[in-house]
Amino acid sequence: MCGIVGYIGGRQASGILLNSIKRLEYRGYDSAGIATTIGGKILLKKDIGKIDEVDKKVNFSELKGDIGIAHTRWATCGKVTKDNAHPHTGCGGKIAIIHNGIIENHSELHEELAEKGHRFVSETDTEVIVHLIEDNYKGDLKEAVLVALKKLEGSYALGVIHSDHNELVAARNDSPLIIGVGDGENFIASDVPAILDHTKKVIYLDNEEVAVLKKDGLEVFGLDGNKREKEVHEVDWDSTQAEKQGYKHFMLKEIFEQPQAVTEAIKGRVEDSNIMIKDEIGLSEEQIKKINRIIIVACGTSWHAGLVGEFMLEELVDIPVEVEYASEFRYRDPIVDENTLVIAISQSGETADTLAALREAKKKGAKVVSIVNVKGSSIDRESDSVIYTYAGPEIGVASTKAFTSQLVVLYLITVYFGKLKGLLPEEQVRNRVRDLRKLPLQMQSVLEEKDYIKLHAEKFYQRKNALYLGRGINYPIALEGALKLKEISYIHAEGYPAAEMKHGPIALIDKDMPVVFIATKDDRTYKKVLSNIEEVKSRGGEVIAIESKGDDDVKKIVDHNFYIPENSYILTPILAVIPLQLLAYYIADLKGCSVDNPRNLAKAVSVE
Ligand code: AGP
Repeated sequence: MCGIVGYIGGRQASGILLNSIKRLEYRGYDSAGIATTIGGKILLKKDIGKIDEVDKKVNFSELKGDIGIAHTRWATCGKVTKDNAHPHTGCGGKIAIIHNGIIENHSELHEELAEKGHRFVSETDTEVIVHLIEDNYKGDLKEAVLVALKKLEGSYALGVIHSDHNELVAARNDSPLIIGVGDGENFIASDVPAILDHTKKVIYLDNEEVAVLKKDGLEVFGLDGNKREKEVHEVDWDSTQAEKQGYKHFMLKEIFEQPQAVTEAIKGRVEDSNIMIKDEIGLSEEQIKKINRIIIVACGTSWHAGLVGEFMLEELVDIPVEVEYASEFRYRDPIVDENTLVIAISQSGETADTLAALREAKKKGAKVVSIVNVKGSSIDRESDSVIYTYAGPEIGVASTKAFTSQLVVLYLITVYFGKLKGLLPEEQVRNRVRDLRKLPLQMQSVLEEKDYIKLHAEKFYQRKNALYLGRGINYPIALEGALKLKEISYIHAEGYPAAEMKHGPIALIDKDMPVVFIATKDDRTYKKVLSNIEEVKSRGGEVIAIESKGDDDVKKIVDHNFYIPENSYILTPILAVIPLQLLAYYIADLKGCSVDNPRNLAKAVSVE
């Protein structure tokens, strides 16, 4: 998955493009490049490395011209080399292109074009597109792009410039692309943070749409060449939200934004004994009462949120829930019908597997409600209805505030369904709303323990492995804690149901393997967790426990412990995850890891 930006207006393009593409570095950082056009020429600089590294090598500011495109790459087709870096040009050097996505029929197109005499310099699928446009160019850039796009199979978000045209042509299919509408200038970008310094007016391009941007306006067309009217939206973020605001990393800022993010997720959706999400969930009372099965599809951290949602829904709504990896669901020919509710969970709204799972579910007649953070994203637009998490821009690759906001939205859906089905009497709904409203302050109190948690990170940051164990609704939090640690510190970590330890993982226990237990007080498996802790201790293991404030039973038998305030069983995960997020963050930072942009990872995996 890559980041693309484009500019056309009255200012020098290179500086604007450089600052904008840096805002998208979380989407990929294998190589970077910028192309501009001036005086009938294409000027182009690119190389491997992160954007600042490349800028030091090539000095992007030397590129003149007020039209340009820029790209930061996450390699999908072709190795990380200078030749494979974007932008790419055709044989005549008069057209330059940037691309995010995968062209599935690039090999056969490559052969056809090579037979016609086109000479390729890279291994990428993207270069095929620019030669295809060049091959069909007869003086009208938009027409050449339209003809080329009809021959492509796969996903694309494109920016195209031509040295003889004062225009910037853009197109999208299954990869995100927005248009920023400025005053005497216009922009294209993979994501909103890239353009917030210049405009809050955005147009969300739909699949198989082409836009022609000029300095003083723009037009949007379908692949059939017919003009399309598009709504201009006002983004409710500002650029400072997308900045670090004094935090060392975006991830740390986003961990500390969680009380506010949860407050936003609740705002306007609860009254004393009422959950007001009827319009957002888009399901009638009759439809909800007919739901006989819920399938949650997601990936990664969002999948962990789904596992917590399963406990919430089965506890209060009495409907069977399955949580599926989206990547598995989409190829499994799932049994789904009109009484199946599918909930797709995605922070970015662009995860290819989750989008494909959503499409598969809709094809089979299921209603799809999505829980999404990024408005205007593909999953947002293709769902039957969407409940936004309102967490604000989440830039750090490791998801944190989006996760806890997803859990809040799942809780809202749970209580709303439970009340509607007559399973939750008025008083219980009132109590559930009260428990929810306590969360932001309780989360803040956990965050205030950051220095104590950092102290423990100093004890463990040189370890090579870790085990995270939890039971019941805290088992998904064990998985999430392990994922946070491994994805940003590269320390191998596994999450397991605590009882499962006896069936294998206990063989791993030794003094060098820290074991993290979520051991919060509840009336279900708490005593069993205490036994599991004893089992680890009796084998010489070192135990760190997340326990409920005021509970001294756990503290007596573990080596280290973090307290969290008590709340209802199904809301505990929102509090228990915070020390694990901070522990992973401080360990990764102590190791000097690239916390916001971990190796090999991207913020939104918009390719298969
Ligand atoms: C989480 O920290 C990871 N970055 C990753 O697992 C992520 O949750 C997953 O790729 C799903 O992304 P989405 O929520 O944007 O769909």
